[in-house]
Amino acid sequence: MAHGHYEAKIGPSILNSDLGALADECQRMMDSGADYLHLDVMDGHFVPNLTFGHPVVQCLRKKIPTAFFDMHMMVANPEKWINDMADAKADQYTFHAEATDDAKNVIRLIKEAGMKAGIGIKPGTPVDVVFPYLEDVDMVLVMTVEPGFGGQKFMADMMSKVQKLRSMYKSLDIEIDGGVGPANIDVAAEAGANMIVSGTAVVKSDNPRQVIHNLRSTVQEYIQKGELER
Ligand code: DX5
Ligand code: ZN
Repeated sequence: MAHGHYEAKIGPSILNSDLGALADECQRMMDSGADYLHLDVMDGHFVPNLTFGHPVVQCLRKKIPTAFFDMHMMVANPEKWINDMADAKADQYTFHAEATDDAKNVIRLIKEAGMKAGIGIKPGTPVDVVFPYLEDVDMVLVMTVEPGFGGQKFMADMMSKVQKLRSMYKSLDIEIDGGVGPANIDVAAEAGANMIVSGTAVVKSDNPRQVIHNLRSTVQEYIQKGELER
């Protein structure tokens, strides 16, 4: 693939925000210039923590009618919630490769339900695991922390996975998630990540608009550089 194109998009994760005011926090992120919302669903099995499920997403959608909802499904049996999330008007369903023996089928069900499909890998999972699905998915998520909790430290050694994917696919959406913020956006952007999840660094900032803008312009800079080199 000689010519590719991908865009810089910043998706705040509201995991470490005031969950009692979830809709307000989501709206605050959209008003601060977020490109999409990254919503973390945990089931206490795939990860040792619990958050929320489709009933909450359904209510959230009523208050936030237009934002793109990227559902990060940190759940066992990812096929189980596909139709419920589609009914709740989620836009994208990102499941974990480790949670299924039949990723092809999960992707097919997601698409049949009318959503975009993302496939994610935990830090210990080699990137090759997603290679068979790259023609079918809309996005690959490379976790840069062990999933389960916000506010952890960014694992820079995961950038080799991003580099490998980017060298193979010039227009694939590659998302990184976990500990990402202004301090490490350069290495992530240079490796070729374009969908940037940032939780703590954005929601706990005094100036979320500035942080989101800073993250996006850094990614845009590297995309432009890459296009000149090609
Ligand atoms: C971790 C979640 C992440 C996390 C991001 O399990 O998938 O989305 O909440 O938050 P920060 O940026 O604080 O690591
Ligand atoms: Zn996440």
